[in-house]
Amino acid sequence: GKVAVLMGGDSSEREVSLMSGGGVLQALRARGVDAHAFDPAHASLSDLKTHGYTRCFIALHGRHGEDGTVQGALELLGIPYTGSGVMASSIAMDKIMTKRIWRFEGLPTPDWRLVASSAETAQAFQELGAPMIVKPSREGSTIGLTKVTSLGQCEQAYRLAAQHDPEVLCEQFIDGDETTCPVLGQGADATALPVIRIVAPEGNYDYQNKYFTDVTQYHCPSGLPEAEERAIQRLVERAYRTLGCRGWARADIMVRASDRQPFLLEINTSPGMTGHSLVPMSARAAGTSYEELCLRILASASL
Ligand code: DAL
Ligand code: MG
Repeated sequence: GKVAVLMGGDSSEREVSLMSGGGVLQALRARGVDAHAFDPAHASLSDLKTHGYTRCFIALHGRHGEDGTVQGALELLGIPYTGSGVMASSIAMDKIMTKRIWRFEGLPTPDWRLVASSAETAQAFQELGAPMIVKPSREGSTIGLTKVTSLGQCEQAYRLAAQHDPEVLCEQFIDGDETTCPVLGQGADATALPVIRIVAPEGNYDYQNKYFTDVTQYHCPSGLPEAEERAIQRLVERAYRTLGCRGWARADIMVRASDRQPFLLEINTSPGMTGHSLVPMSARAAGTSYEELCLRILASASL
């Protein structure tokens, strides 16, 4: 049947989504899938039904795409879709809610404060120490994020984050290796792919360095000791199952330099699939091509 690749949308990650969706569309078509681009910002999702689509590949990022809202609409329309369901999508979009659950389940995530003003941000800085990450709770691609190293930066960091979300998260910065690790599958079968270690110039893996420059180095195989790689993989599988994710996702992890303890930062339930993106890179290291990966994700589409 006809497959809609949902791409674009109205979030601040629209441009990234168009790049992800373009790649997915091309890959599916190359493998003979009757796939078409569908932008929920330009057409109503209910048109999916009238146009005869039988499955959706969700290549949307951020709000109204990755946060359970589109997933809920597709549930109501009865059209199977890729990735996590309504609840896991909406929890994972909310970094604070995600951290509460992981913390409750004993999974390591850096200490944090939920703040509602620049004064509270300054207070959090006193308590959490420097450096501190200030970011919107429900955003992606590093948008609205500041690494604060002095009290004086707190006000501007809060204002920037609050432009994107009234819920602002202050998080202790973990000094060490920046890594990311995809997971494919569902429930007991959820399996981590190879870990990627990211080395960005001056540790600045921001929006530009994620998508538009070639200065970031990606190591996959990670070069981490075998036991550390395995520990990260088991941790992300637990993090994924704990939230009830399905299909696929990618968790971001910092490995603390001092004691090599891995900390979960967040899990992305509709990860980037652009030419610079990390899930395809990890899959390739495991012997799965970009096209195979897209087919595998599509095959997991469900309601
Ligand atoms: N939010 C971006 C798309 C990612 O996590 O890959
Ligand atoms: Mg993210």
